[in-house]
Amino acid sequence: MTAIDPARAVAVVGTGTMGQGIAQVALTAGHPVRLYDAAPGRAEEAAGAIAARLGRLVDKGRLDAAVRDAALSRLRPAAQLAELAGSALVIEAIVEQLGVKQKLFEELEQVVAQDCLLATNTSSLAVTAVAAALRHPGRFVGLHFFNPAPLMPLVEVVRGFATDEAAAERARATMTAWGKTPVACADTPGFIVNRLARPFYAEALRVYEEGAADPATIDAVLRESGGFRMGPFELTDLIGQDVNNSVTHSVYEAFFHSPKFTPSLAQGRLVQAGLLGRKTGRGWFAYGEGAEKPEP
Ligand code: NAI
Repeated sequence: MTAIDPARAVAVVGTGTMGQGIAQVALTAGHPVRLYDAAPGRAEEAAGAIAARLGRLVDKGRLDAAVRDAALSRLRPAAQLAELAGSALVIEAIVEQLGVKQKLFEELEQVVAQDCLLATNTSSLAVTAVAAALRHPGRFVGLHFFNPAPLMPLVEVVRGFATDEAAAERARATMTAWGKTPVACADTPGFIVNRLARPFYAEALRVYEEGAADPATIDAVLRESGGFRMGPFELTDLIGQDVNNSVTHSVYEAFFHSPKFTPSLAQGRLVQAGLLGRKTGRGWFAYGEGAEKPEP
């Protein structure tokens, strides 16, 4: 099965943290890219952020200015979903809520051609459930990128109950063509990485809640002795405490409240307080001006 022709357009719906990164990957792979977001002005902002990021790569000598200019000439924010009509692939990276994602795909199906591949970047919802309302669910896959998408090679390619093998193969071939490392996986709770990573976060949170050490110390131990690039507290500040916590809740629900996956009260309190990590300037640690170093 061949990858999607780079001359064909790729649409990204939801242009927040992940959507911007995924759009940048598709753009640098040579595709025309369309950006759509429900929040007014957000797609234009995302196009500006991508241009700024590519500009920094040019400044560092890692991207040719002419290649950057050609890429940006292929990037187009869309004001209406209808403008995504000619896309060969639509990747959704909107809010992690099943009903909202289902409604979006129902609307998208009215807009795109029947051979357009539809993909969700969901971290923790069942791909099968997101596709449940589609008339043609065979062309629906999970394409789970990791944050930051331009730097992280792994992409989980998830087959839902109704996904055609041809669609999954086409998605995998496209990820390889984009320089990614696709890994095929079944539609199980948390797929591979988010399922495997739950105990990593949960045990670190328990060690903290038991009073053994503070987050900075636990992170340092795992970095220096465990060989991890980031400790669990700084990593969840990067991911977003809300995103990480909602993945834990989904996996906990999916495994019938197995105690192994019990969500953390301490992390829940951070989310309630709006201390979501880097994106809000404070999570387990403080960021930005006035924060000389991360502080618990
Ligand atoms: P985000 O909050 O940064 O961005 C979401 C964007 O979607 C916002 O710009 C919002 O305006 C837009 N949006 C919401 N509802 C919409 C709708 N109905 N139609 C169009 N646009 C809509 O979220 P983030 O972190 O980028 O996450 C997006 C998805 O990616 C979620 O499913 C999340 O679970 C998944 N994900 C997140 C990762 C992370 O590290 N943050 C990693 C991998 C997957």
